[in-house]
Amino acid sequence: MTLSHDTEAPASEVVLEAVGLTKHFPVRRNLRSLMSRTSSAVHAVDDVHLALRRGRVVALVGESGSGKSTVARLLAQLYPRTDGDIKLHGASTTVKGGRAFRQYATRVQMVFQDPFASLNPVHTIRYHLTRALRIHQHAGSDTAELERALHELLDRVALTPPERYLDKFPHELSGGQRQRVAIARALAANPEALLADEPVSMLDVSIRLGVLNLLRDLKERFNLAILYITHDIASARYFADETMVMYAGRMVEAGDSETVTQSPAHPYTRLLIDSAPDPDRIENMASDSTDRGNGEPPSLIHPPAGCRFHPRCPMAMPRCTTDLPTPIEIGDKPGHWAACWLYDEATVAAQPPGSAAATGAGGETAPQPATAAPSTGEAR
Ligand SMILES: Nc1ncnc2c1ncn2[C@@H]1O[C@H](COP(=O)(O)OP(=O)(O)OP(=O)(O)O)[C@@H](O)[C@H]1O
Ligand SMILES: [Mg+2]
Repeated sequence: MTLSHDTEAPASEVVLEAVGLTKHFPVRRNLRSLMSRTSSAVHAVDDVHLALRRGRVVALVGESGSGKSTVARLLAQLYPRTDGDIKLHGASTTVKGGRAFRQYATRVQMVFQDPFASLNPVHTIRYHLTRALRIHQHAGSDTAELERALHELLDRVALTPPERYLDKFPHELSGGQRQRVAIARALAANPEALLADEPVSMLDVSIRLGVLNLLRDLKERFNLAILYITHDIASARYFADETMVMYAGRMVEAGDSETVTQSPAHPYTRLLIDSAPDPDRIENMASDSTDRGNGEPPSLIHPPAGCRFHPRCPMAMPRCTTDLPTPIEIGDKPGHWAACWLYDEATVAAQPPGSAAATGAGGETAPQPATAAPSTGEAR
């Protein structure tokens, strides 16, 4: 198998793009809804825009149920979308199954959270990787070529010497080794984009970094575009070039990872960062009375009007309960935006200088508002 054509593509080239991506899951109808002829749906993903580029990692961060996995599954074409578009190299793509799906899967692969569940316990590593190589027609024309391809795959994920692992069953490997096999299986397709749905969250803390470093190495060696889904905003800062924050099915903030994690603008991003364990902060918590937002995520069957975060937001204004915030560029960092009315010019102008609404919930770290972002910007 050869990777030459992939590695020669320009590093910033957009591979996969979501444009206004929307997914509503219909809720099974009960007798009452049949009688009243109403139908409801889980608004899992609404109007998501994102772009995955060659040689770059985009992190998608948010709490449980915010719609992260649904975005990945839509991008992998495992679910049909309700609205919006998915573009592969700029071309609108809808794949329903069969040969078209296999062709799509040679370019876009997924890695799942639980490597034990994604590998069949009754088959060896050799079986899993051979099958993937055959499906994607990289198994070569004879046994020697197949053996070479298998060794190359395991070498790539640093399971060496390969012969030590090829004939083992999944249960004979550690969690980290199993996830490396799952990554090797995804690489057997020779993909351009990798959608990694919480690839390290089931692993021991001590081996997470090794797997993230492997993914980073693969990104650089094979010029891969990676979507990294995580609850852990700190790992997004370490691993991802760009971070997007999702709340209750909508994107609320995005920008380069350093800016989003060091100078978060949206009150929800601040809440996420404050929720991450940090010994220094825990010591100061007793004296810190700032309200960062409490409560539970909302129902996605009847999501709140206006900003979906407003019932939990300590900075909520009357407008937030009725008007859906549009993405607003923040400060002077290109590509940094937040969908929050705190940064609307009219709101800022109406506040006395230095007030909470003018500076944002975190005061000293809050960026200055700028102009409204274009409605179809790539970085959204
Ligand atoms: N197949 C489905 N049918 C109906 N509802 C679904 C389906 N898949 C997901 N949902 C709902 O869509 C919402 C988003 O789910 P999703 O799994 O994408 O969230 P997530 O951010 O990945 O959460 P987690 O961090 O727990 O994995 C949730 O309310 C979930 O219950
Ligand atoms: Mg998920």
